[in-house]
Amino acid sequence: MKILVIGSGGREHALTWKITRSPRVTSVWCAPGNAGTADEQTLTGDRPVENIPIGAEDIDTLLSFAQERRPDLTVVGPDNPLTLGITDRFQRHGLRIWGPDQKAARFESSKIFSHQFMIRHGIPCAQGAFFSDPKEAKAYARHLRGQCVVKADGLALGKGVSVCESIPEADEAITALLEKKVFGEAGERLLVQERLSGREVSLHALCDGTRYRLFPPSQDHKRAYEGNRGPNTGGMGTYSPTPFFSPDQMAQVQQEILDPWLTGCQKEGIAFRGMLYPGLMLTAEGPKVLEFNARLGDPETQVYLRRFRGDLIDILEASVDGKLDSVQPEWDDNAAVCVVIAADGYPGTYAKGKPVAGLAEAEAIPGVKIFHAGTRREDSGIVNSGGRILGVTAMGPTLTDALNTAYSAAERIRIEGSFYRSDIGTDALT
Ligand code: AMP
Ligand code: GLY
Repeated sequence: MKILVIGSGGREHALTWKITRSPRVTSVWCAPGNAGTADEQTLTGDRPVENIPIGAEDIDTLLSFAQERRPDLTVVGPDNPLTLGITDRFQRHGLRIWGPDQKAARFESSKIFSHQFMIRHGIPCAQGAFFSDPKEAKAYARHLRGQCVVKADGLALGKGVSVCESIPEADEAITALLEKKVFGEAGERLLVQERLSGREVSLHALCDGTRYRLFPPSQDHKRAYEGNRGPNTGGMGTYSPTPFFSPDQMAQVQQEILDPWLTGCQKEGIAFRGMLYPGLMLTAEGPKVLEFNARLGDPETQVYLRRFRGDLIDILEASVDGKLDSVQPEWDDNAAVCVVIAADGYPGTYAKGKPVAGLAEAEAIPGVKIFHAGTRREDSGIVNSGGRILGVTAMGPTLTDALNTAYSAAERIRIEGSFYRSDIGTDALT
């Protein structure tokens, strides 16, 4: 099989790596990929993965490429191409593609749609209301005493959410979106929600239009600095499984969240084929949905694909073809960890072009696999091209073992000014 992977982050390197492990796969293209994807080889015939310089949002050029090269399956990583309708376009041209269509992707592309859907179908979530008038939004934030979360309706590069602790903070977030229009159209409407507290868990449900298969739970660390301080990022590190999330809670989540979600989709004519990734908060009143994403998480994918046993292509095809009843994903009992190494200044402005050293030394440690995110190969070697540079993953019989291995590998990586959180997973150990 010939596979086209779309995207350039750590998630896409992990997808590409796992896809090359399939005995069914003969060649892989990655558009646009990164320095890590280009270093992978297929099992069958040792064909290197080829990076194709087409951006993930350039749907016209991706479609032309696919029409010419005819991949047997296209695997979409990021949210933007899904929101732009890449699945609909490819399918109209008879190309097989994994990822929800534009209508199903609304669970991620419109937070207001998602919120209203949850209310319609009785799915537990934060109380909230949506606004396009700043005065009304600010009045509602006052009603919540400033203890609220302000969310741009549309996609805003993961930066459209402000978690507020006071009325002035909420006012500032509302002004930024509705008056200063910092996210343009994506922030023309916004959702103000009550601020929930509790532990966060990432769930992933692979869907085939009529059923879902739940992946094990994982946990991300969204804030930039230790102790969950600093600005929100795309994710600084993950681990799976999550010892504090019991099988009983998992059953509760299926019954209260995923089953009503699926029934709701059926009632509303939404055939969701792809990954539903609900972000949950385990509150004192039970699990509640913070948001729905319509793709795999990054860096959740990096730990999932270390633990996933079996052929990724089999389960992705079952999701595309409506045949999830024929597959049962199996998971390694070992724990997996991913520690993200980020550029100085991330998630704000940061320098690009810094040399990345120590990769071979770090990867020589048993149990370690390094997924590249913002990297590029130059004549001089590998340099950073993005804020999240690498995801250092490790496996171990316990979470502590996996963490020790991941951190000893991370210490060997040398990138001027870079940083990582040294407390990934420690919450789960206490
Ligand atoms: P989202 O993109 O909606 O997941 O929001 C990003 C992050 O903001 C989440 O991972 C949470 O840490 C936080 N967040 C979102 N909604 C809420 C909420 N209602 N209460 C508390 N924190 C939230
Ligand atoms: N792990 C956060 C995200 O993928 O949105």
